[in-house]
Amino acid sequence: MMLSKPLSFFLIIQSASAAVNLRSLQSNADESLATTMMMFRSWADTHDKEYTTEEEAMDRLKIWMENHERMEAHNNQVPKPSFTLGHNEFSDMTNDEFQQRFRLGIYSNTEAQMAKKQAQKLVNSDAASASKMARHLEEINPLDLPEQVNWVALGGVTPVKNQGACGSCWAFSTTGALEGAKFVHTGELVSLSEQNLLDCDHTDMGCSGGLMDNAFKFDEKTGGLCSEEDYPYKAKQGRVCLTNCTDVPGTIVSTFYDVPPGNTQTLMAALSMQPISVAVQANQFVFQFYKTGVLTDDSCGKAGDLDHGVLAAGYGTDSETGEPYFLIKNSWGDKWGENGYIRMSRKSKNQYGMCALLKMASYPEVV
Ligand SMILES: *[C@@H]1O[C@H](CO)[C@@H](O)[C@H](O)[C@H]1NC(C)=O
Repeated sequence: MMLSKPLSFFLIIQSASAAVNLRSLQSNADESLATTMMMFRSWADTHDKEYTTEEEAMDRLKIWMENHERMEAHNNQVPKPSFTLGHNEFSDMTNDEFQQRFRLGIYSNTEAQMAKKQAQKLVNSDAASASKMARHLEEINPLDLPEQVNWVALGGVTPVKNQGACGSCWAFSTTGALEGAKFVHTGELVSLSEQNLLDCDHTDMGCSGGLMDNAFKFDEKTGGLCSEEDYPYKAKQGRVCLTNCTDVPGTIVSTFYDVPPGNTQTLMAALSMQPISVAVQANQFVFQFYKTGVLTDDSCGKAGDLDHGVLAAGYGTDSETGEPYFLIKNSWGDKWGENGYIRMSRKSKNQYGMCALLKMASYPEVV
């Protein structure tokens, strides 16, 4: 039974109060339960959450409160951390559930392991052999690089999109890089169709994941993508590949390059030319609930298990903290992070940088 929202929330709050008393699910000391409940309710309204049963609502409330406490514990640290965490549409998901939903990133399928092997196979054979390593980037003198690059401010990045409950991050990362490449090439910004890739690029796996290099190769073979407007996003793979739209001029991939991995300056050099497709490990708590500031937690991406494709849109230095960062556009809507973006530190002890963002960067050239 689907309870109407006002009623269900009334019931939830009634029963949750009782349950909380019984099970001492208190949040931290200076925050009354009533306040927490109100916050939960207002969060649920903001994110249009509806739970089918009261039991589910109770379970979600508990998870929400646990996440809330963990975020508060992070935010209240002394000295103040360089980044804050905050609520978003994932606040009622455990980290496991979050990983289930987004493991469908670059490397996954219904069985994570199987998919990983499959993706590795793709990397090793198909896409990798077709892409070139952009070695010249390594030769650029750091002193020749601009202090900061911001393709958003330059007008080369479309508004933040939302992939929804579909592991199509790879398609968003691909369109972002193509939109940027076309902008650099023609001075025009046109939002491009992820659905075009989901429905038509069968080397990749639709909502079950894919790789940006595969998608560049698909575009190189088939010659361009349609616009977002002509081929709108559905958050699921269509049964057929529609061919009744016209490819946007200037979106044909002529070639694409892999950025040599593990080097901060090399990615900066690539970014000085255009926006770049990158992959990150997005399954950590700090990434799930990132809100503002520069992410400086090396536990993000230590393992280098890439599971999410995003778009690097520039780099700079935070004026308040002096922390150098990469500016990353995500595809989880504009309520996540800093209006849909995350700034990730350029300093990291990890071999492949913060959340492993230096591990699998690539970019296309278009005609
Ligand atoms: C293409 O065809 C589909 C399905 O018939 C239709 O819904 C869509 O509006 C068409 N798109 C264009 C750009 O004509």
